[in-house]
Amino acid sequence: MYSEKVMDHFQNPRNVGEIENASGVGTVGNAKCGDIMRMYLDIDDNGIIQDCKFKTFGCGAAVATSSMATELVKGKTIQEALEVTNKAVMEALDGLPPVKVHCSLLAEEAIHAALWDYAEKNGIVIEGLDKPVSDISEHEEEEEY
Ligand code: FES
Repeated sequence: MYSEKVMDHFQNPRNVGEIENASGVGTVGNAKCGDIMRMYLDIDDNGIIQDCKFKTFGCGAAVATSSMATELVKGKTIQEALEVTNKAVMEALDGLPPVKVHCSLLAEEAIHAALWDYAEKNGIVIEGLDKPVSDISEHEEEEEY
């Protein structure tokens, strides 16, 4: 059911933990399944993401997608990080079963929330970044109906 890459990132998740004095921290949840994701970003003066870590009370797919997402945003600029969508993460993992696609949204939204926090702390506007929601299940419903 899961690709080898998903199993690998689930069993050996990369970048689990916290970053002290992070440049940005974002937390999002999905009220439907009760899972929560928190992302920490360390962004240098040139706007490059030097480090990214996550903590989650999430299912296996949420762990694997977050692990891959942190790997993908490291070393990127803020604008490049915005392109790390849940679709890009799923592709990097060789796909997810359809019922687990929503789990990958947690990682994307948590990164956006951390970038939003960074922008607010620094009084800047990140082009293309919308205010994140704290519960992504509300968002899903809008898309479904
Ligand atoms: Fe909630 Fe996967 S079931 S994130």
